Amino acid sequence: MLPGAPVAQAVLAQVAEGVAELRAAGVTPTLATVLVGDDEASAGYIRIKSRQAAELGFAAPHVRLAASASQADLHAVLAGFNSDPAVHGVLVQYPVPGGLDYDRALQVLDPDLDVDGMHPVNMGRLALGLPGPLPCTPAAVEALLAHHGVPVAGREVVILGRGATLGRPLAMLLAQKRSTANAAVTVVHTGVVDWPRYARRADILVAAVGVPGIVRPEHVRPGAVVVGGGVRYAGRRLLPDVDESCAAVAGAITPRVGGVGPVTVAMLFRNALRAARSAAGLADQS
Ligand SMILES: NC(=O)c1ccc[n+]([C@@H]2O[C@H](COP(=O)([O-])OP(=O)(O)OC[C@H]3O[C@@H](n4cnc5c(N)ncnc54)[C@H](OP(=O)(O)O)[C@@H]3O)[C@@H](O)[C@H]2O)c1
Repeated sequence: MLPGAPVAQAVLAQVAEGVAELRAAGVTPTLATVLVGDDEASAGYIRIKSRQAAELGFAAPHVRLAASASQADLHAVLAGFNSDPAVHGVLVQYPVPGGLDYDRALQVLDPDLDVDGMHPVNMGRLALGLPGPLPCTPAAVEALLAHHGVPVAGREVVILGRGATLGRPLAMLLAQKRSTANAAVTVVHTGVVDWPRYARRADILVAAVGVPGIVRPEHVRPGAVVVGGGVRYAGRRLLPDVDESCAAVAGAITPRVGGVGPVTVAMLFRNALRAARSAAGLADQS
């Protein structure tokens, strides 16, 4: 099994240390959160992240906008954070209510404050190998594999899905020249009808789709590593891409719950710490 909890704990312990160091130097790392509307699940997620930020030592100002807020209202909040030197990172809870455009709002945010790492400028930085906040879920997959000692360099990684959140940025990340990456990466999607042919030759198969149970044992080369990134929610029930029966074939596999997810959240705080260190003129630690 490749559980996410120990990876997240290790990352968060480093973040807490970094936060304490900054505070000792007189800087209060600050991660602002924004919630629009009154979706119960979104309110719950942002509450958890806000609480965790405070536990790690971040100042965590929170803005809640009514469901009736306009795009301009959201932009005004983000512009306010952009011009506040005390704020080092901003997290806008996704999704925003229908009628609002999350991607447009993200483009208003200063890319250096984008702790999700999803701003187009940060995607561009990733493509060019320039420093900047990394998209959290792809960074989580790399960290998960590294923490559990799964060799990636020189091996074939097949990613099922080319979405902007996971598949596409993960392909860029794992193809970078670095000891925890440096892989031969293949990306398959609906345009590759015979994607199982590619999946079966993978040393590491990453599901990044959002179609419950799409990855089945016959898609896994015996002994291969399987990482389940894609999920769909049916109410509160989490339906992963990877069918549980794959565990019988895989050499190592993320658990049904508690794999990539907890590490993704930890990456958010790592991005926030890096942003605060960078604003304070300190070099990156990791
Ligand atoms: N674990 C976490 O912490 C975490 C965090 C963020 C996101 N996620 C999950 O990651 C998944 C991917 O999100 P995303 O935004 O990157 O992707 P996305 O935009 O939802 O795109 C899904 C991708 O899957 C492909 N696909 C869909 N059905 C397929 C099929 N039957 N056969 C082959 N390929 C198929 C699509 O192909 P086409 O491009 O050809 O349409 C597309 O590339 C989602 O389930 C999301 O919930 C998980």
